[in-house]
Amino acid sequence: MARNNKLNQFRIEEVTSVHSPSLAGMKTWLIEIFPEYAPPRFESLLTRLRHPDSRHELQIFIGQSNGQVAGLVQVFYREWQNGLLADIDLLGVLEPHRCKGLGTALVKRAIQATWDMAGRYGLQSIGVVSLIEPSDATVIRLHKKLGGQIRTDYLHPSGDIIAWHPLLRDFATVETGLLAQQLQQFAFLLV
Ligand SMILES: CC(C)(COP(=O)(O)OP(=O)(O)OC[C@H]1O[C@@H](n2cnc3c(N)ncnc32)[C@H](O)[C@@H]1OP(=O)(O)O)[C@@H](O)C(=O)NCCC(=O)NCCS
Repeated sequence: MARNNKLNQFRIEEVTSVHSPSLAGMKTWLIEIFPEYAPPRFESLLTRLRHPDSRHELQIFIGQSNGQVAGLVQVFYREWQNGLLADIDLLGVLEPHRCKGLGTALVKRAIQATWDMAGRYGLQSIGVVSLIEPSDATVIRLHKKLGGQIRTDYLHPSGDIIAWHPLLRDFATVETGLLAQQLQQFAFLLV
């Protein structure tokens, strides 16, 4: 079966409310794929950071298959350098659903969402940053395929390196250290 046909089995949508019927599936997803981040904090993040009447600091997109949450990407936003910077904080696809294009589709959606969000707020789109495991060839290839740079000149305390998708030409050569500082700021959103 062609890759695109496989992708058709997924429906990608944003979860905007703590009352979403997908919340239970999101929690199961997190416990299965990132047990180290349990207990899940989706409700508190949506309540604190997705403001109905002002600028969102968070968006969560899920990929569903037959009503099951198969994949998820969680994106944080911050204003930086007169523009909008996004951080892909969580990205994962449950094992039975991997290699069908969902991970790529979720990252593409996060990048498009950054353009859209910046446009809505009258800001420039600066880029999308993410911490990734240096030994994970799949995620490295995924980011590279979508135009991301793999920055190996900074090692996060967790052992991760930075994937950087510049959306504004001036930021294609931004220092990795500056991106690392922004990741520290993003971490405060989780507290
Ligand atoms: C990284 C992850 C999200 C990718 O999800 P996915 O849905 O399998 O991704 P895709 O199907 O879009 O494929 C992305 C890349 O995976 C690799 N891949 C996909 N199918 C493959 C296959 N059959 N054989 C080998 N590699 C394959 C390829 O590098 C592919 O890129 P390509 O399209 O150029 O071939 C998923 O593997 C995952 O959840 N991993 C665990 C959590 C994690 O590491 N998250 C990242 C945090 S740093």
